[in-house]
Amino acid sequence: MKRTDFLSLGDLSPEQVEQLLDRAQELKERRRRITVLDGQSLALVFEKPSLRTRASFDVAMYELGGQAVYLGPDEVGLGKREAIPDVARVLSQYVHGIAARTFRHADLEVLAASATVPVINALSDFCHPCQGLADLLTLRQQFGRLQGIRLTYIGDGNNIANTLLFAASKVGLHLTLASPPGYDCDATVVDQARREAVERGGSITLTNDPVEAARGAEVLYTDVWTSMGQEHEAARRRADFARYRIDRDLLRLARPGAVVMHDLPAHRGEEITDEVIDGPQSVVFQQAGNRLHVQKAVLLWLLGKDDDKSDDLG
Ligand code: CP
Ligand code: NVA
Repeated sequence: MKRTDFLSLGDLSPEQVEQLLDRAQELKERRRRITVLDGQSLALVFEKPSLRTRASFDVAMYELGGQAVYLGPDEVGLGKREAIPDVARVLSQYVHGIAARTFRHADLEVLAASATVPVINALSDFCHPCQGLADLLTLRQQFGRLQGIRLTYIGDGNNIANTLLFAASKVGLHLTLASPPGYDCDATVVDQARREAVERGGSITLTNDPVEAARGAEVLYTDVWTSMGQEHEAARRRADFARYRIDRDLLRLARPGAVVMHDLPAHRGEEITDEVIDGPQSVVFQQAGNRLHVQKAVLLWLLGKDDDKSDDLG
């Protein structure tokens, strides 16, 4: 029977999140090539472009002693050239894990249901759990704790906003989401995240007012207004989101010493200005760097042997 999949941060327990972050921090501090995944392969099945996710999974497999096999949009044609369950059954005989970037989260679930190897969500329209882990690791490195951090997300109620809701629910962040009317997060995700976040000393606040949301924040976080696959809506979104930009004036409302985060790629001049993303309060590139270390921790969890769970990584 296969080990579990990693499709959403919502599926992890708070203890699992903490263990993955501890392991990622350790891997970051002792970065080197080890051989625990010797002989193992990870398929990267991507329906959309990627810099961070593709490169960091590829390097992660190399540094753990295995290898990655990249299959881009023109090769696999998930559900078009070939039925998704057939792709899953074939790939499961070649590789030891699949990291998949799909447009539809439902397609990822079909892939996972038919694969006999673990499937990792490398970004879907619903969420981006590897990004969420990197975000939490970055926050922990910055603040030395996670519970009670006041994080304000300014932007679209999209896959990244959902991921932050799940993250808040696991560690008890005080998360405020400021989105234009009509671009709020899915109410079911908000309700579930709110219940769990409150249990862990956090809270979830939704607003349409970016200025109020920014006041007193310890972290300002944003993402693109137009996600991959929504390019036909870009003009309307630019108009609807015009007040939802992190610029110097908005950052001044946050707590002194507040940090700025973005999952990248950024549309500079839209959701974030150059002076903010390149400024001293930005931890955006540290955040991107952490993708490598959290994904190594995820790979060890899903593909490693049970005795790799010891502190000695060889
Ligand atoms: N943040 C992120 O996942 O970046 P890529 O789309 O470049 O992988
Ligand atoms: N919301 C963005 C995230 C990219 C990492 C998108 O889906 O395009």
